[in-house]
Amino acid sequence: MADSRMRVLAVLCLVISCLSVTEAQLRANYYQQSCPRAESIIKQTIRNAYNSDKTIPAGLIRMFFHDCFVRGCDASVLLDNSDSEKLGAPNANSLRGFNVLDAAKAAVEAACPGVVSCADVIAYSARDAMELAGNIVVNNWLGGRRDGPVSISAETLTNLPAPFANFTTLLKVFRSKGLDQNDLVILSGAHTIGHAHCGIVLQRIYNFKGTNKADPAIDPSYVQTLRNLCPQTAPGNIINMDQLTPTVLDVNYFRDVNRGRGLFESDNALRTSPIANALVKIYQVPQVFSPSFVNSMRKMGNIGVLTGNQGKIRRVCNVA
Ligand code: HEM
Repeated sequence: MADSRMRVLAVLCLVISCLSVTEAQLRANYYQQSCPRAESIIKQTIRNAYNSDKTIPAGLIRMFFHDCFVRGCDASVLLDNSDSEKLGAPNANSLRGFNVLDAAKAAVEAACPGVVSCADVIAYSARDAMELAGNIVVNNWLGGRRDGPVSISAETLTNLPAPFANFTTLLKVFRSKGLDQNDLVILSGAHTIGHAHCGIVLQRIYNFKGTNKADPAIDPSYVQTLRNLCPQTAPGNIINMDQLTPTVLDVNYFRDVNRGRGLFESDNALRTSPIANALVKIYQVPQVFSPSFVNSMRKMGNIGVLTGNQGKIRRVCNVA
């Protein structure tokens, strides 16, 4: 008798845990019932920002990456405290788009108070950014992430790859997030939009590893272009990562990397693995690039998400 009661209990537990697992999934049209206009309100805010600044998508796509790689996609990147992720070296004075995300969050709060998480505002904005910069439509983008309470600056250094990283290190970081070599290559393609600070590449173009010369892996004519844009005395200068089409999410990054015109060592590192190098060639085909990029962005949006009853919905994104 006790035995069969135990068995019923075990089955019940299984059913309950199955239910909570189902509940914990992200899903498309997540706010259809609770805030039907959420996605369109966010989209409109991003579109307005884009209309006055075509470089906004770059900031938002990078924001999504930096959120998801540190503590999962939980909007920890938006929190303010005396030692928050915003202050970490990869983010300070370079991550951007905070004001646009604040505007999007304020607009959804006005329509549906306390319903849409900051983590989802980042994720939907990244989707909208891809659509605008890539001139594509991204269907079935998932929602349902919740916001985390913790943000620690040092975790940006341990979870985000450095622009000086070699292939082994890059792959190790991506694998630690459940992403693979293909994701590493295709997502690096985000460097086809946006800009960087010269300080990051000065050593690479003037004094690579103490040689007083440029990194021999860079196309010599590109070294000259970069030196013109980045005088040794101007680490604060800003340069486009794609000299040709800096606001378009296109395949130019892969064309550039393929001929030694990747801006960072981490970009060029993709040529040092036979498989990654083959992918660099494959992704020069626009029809292959776009769906693959969206696919890996979707995967990135699943990293370490808080769902169901985990975390909370922050009312203001910078306050836990
Ligand atoms: C693979 C390793 C990566 C490294 C080492 C890296 C590093 C960097 C660095 C150093 C910058 C310049 C920041 C500045 O000077 O302001 C940058 C910019 C950027 N990164 Fe990455 N990144 C990587 C991967 C990614 C991924 C996976 C994405 C998104 C899917 C991404 C999206 C961007 C974008 C869009 C920009 C331009 C930002 C802007 O214009 O404000 N990066 N990245």
